[in-house]
Amino acid sequence: MKTSNLKRLSFALLLAFSAVLPHPAWAASPAPVKAEHGMVVTAQHLASDVGLEVLKKGGNAVDAAVAVGYALAVVYPTAGNIGGGGFMTIRFKDGKSTFLDFRERAPLAATKAMYLDDHGNLVKGRSTDGYLAVGVPGPVAGFEFARSRYGTRPLKELIEPAVKLAREGFVLQQGDADVFERAAERLAKDAAAAAIFLTPEGKPRAVGDRLVQTDLAASLSRIAEEGPDAFYTGAIADLIVKASAEKGGILSKQDFEQYRVRELEPVKCNYRGYEVVSSPPPSSGGVIICEILNILEGYPLPYLGYGSAETVHAMVEAMRHAYVDRNTALGDPDFVENPVAKFTNKAYAEEIRKKIDPFKAGVSELLKPAGFGESSETTHYSIVDDEGNAVAVTYTLNGSFGAGVVAPGTGILLNNEMDDFTAKPGAPNLYGLVQGEANAIAPGKTPLSSMSPTIISKNGEPFMVIGSPGGARIITITLEAILNVIDHGMNIQEAVDAPRIHHQWLPDKVFMEPYALSPDTLKLLSAMGHDVEIDENWTIWGQATGILVGGESVSEIQAGGGARYNGAVDSRIGAGAARGY
Ligand code: GLY
Repeated sequence: MKTSNLKRLSFALLLAFSAVLPHPAWAASPAPVKAEHGMVVTAQHLASDVGLEVLKKGGNAVDAAVAVGYALAVVYPTAGNIGGGGFMTIRFKDGKSTFLDFRERAPLAATKAMYLDDHGNLVKGRSTDGYLAVGVPGPVAGFEFARSRYGTRPLKELIEPAVKLAREGFVLQQGDADVFERAAERLAKDAAAAAIFLTPEGKPRAVGDRLVQTDLAASLSRIAEEGPDAFYTGAIADLIVKASAEKGGILSKQDFEQYRVRELEPVKCNYRGYEVVSSPPPSSGGVIICEILNILEGYPLPYLGYGSAETVHAMVEAMRHAYVDRNTALGDPDFVENPVAKFTNKAYAEEIRKKIDPFKAGVSELLKPAGFGESSETTHYSIVDDEGNAVAVTYTLNGSFGAGVVAPGTGILLNNEMDDFTAKPGAPNLYGLVQGEANAIAPGKTPLSSMSPTIISKNGEPFMVIGSPGGARIITITLEAILNVIDHGMNIQEAVDAPRIHHQWLPDKVFMEPYALSPDTLKLLSAMGHDVEIDENWTIWGQATGILVGGESVSEIQAGGGARYNGAVDSRIGAGAARGY
């Protein structure tokens, strides 16, 4: 028998005989936050406090999610917003689930080639900076859709904490100040944004400064009084459309008037007996997480171990194949046929596994379909209430502080989500994603997202709420937290803290966080043909927030259980907090 066949055989035998048991955790992280009645985990501690108060007063997880969404728009302006868009996955206490899409839509005047010059070349900055980059925002409509159908509290009560935080201000901690420091140069270019987020001398606001947002407080009060009409048909829409017209944008009043939330069936799959519920198109997140999980189910990851060359090889090859599907075939479901059933099918995963050489890296270029010509500044929060309702929300301005513009008089930062479209097939976007025609720009269309608010259950009971920012890496960050809990036995805090790897088909590179892989492992991967690059830009690796139900880890749950709710905010987040009661 040839050596390569022998190697294949030994790998197959390993698969057949290895015990699929989680290894004990080895990561060093603080203990998760534990609570019995409710848990709120967000990227900013004041927003977590807001959500917790709603739960304590008897509001449900959807009420808390709405209040947190508005609060983050004030205290986490790099990504929290009402001028961007997002997704909400809800798993109700009876086991049913739903998904709300309140992502941005392309303005009606948008065209396929709007970011190209006369020679068909991308014009740098056109899809990322200023009003031409702005999609029609969805959070105000999305939060109201969620609240009016699934919440229990009046809108005014849920917005009030955000109004107070905006009007009275809040004192910046290190994690808050870091965000302003990074964005100062960009914010300085827009007078309305600079007036809010920079000092009168044009410096970034520092630790100990109080950030007061008077215009934002007024906009939020208007929404509290008049409901979403204030934003979509009233004074706020007028102010945004006026600013857009004055500064080269194409937003119209009609764009705002015809904005609609979509309620969609979530994507579902089963991984080693766990039921995964996640985001459907216009997100690629749930589909691609399920596709990768289905592929990885055929490998004994618990036996191979976290961070081993064999585990990383299997993960990278699964990511490589799944991201081809993501980048070439998925788009807004109102505009393209998404092969969701195929991509999430176990037989399709089996076909892909057959193409993966267990000892050799694949070549991305060879996977390019015939005819084929993301910043981390999103935010995710996870909530569970006393009744067992679970909500996962990921929402975003796309880049940090979005398009870097605030419509004068509104205090509202606007997104640059239009960059998530394929501005030019084959050319990389902000996140280096190389995408195809399915995600081309069209009026009223929603750009393909990676946001992956995910809820997992086991035996009909909620098990995990998880998600992350991270642009194109949202999918792999969320995936790795799931693998770390289910396959590698980590507790929820260790699972979100553990160093990460990422592959997105193109560029054909394995990106790793510093310390994610040992020098020996790197040598093994290199010998297989992998090109591994250490990516030290910590902001791009996301900040996951998760909750594990019934114990802090699978082993604690299997041993009879620990605290009911175990919350973890990624240690990469400077100002975040898990709060429970
Ligand atoms: N803007 C990041 C995403 O939606 O994937």
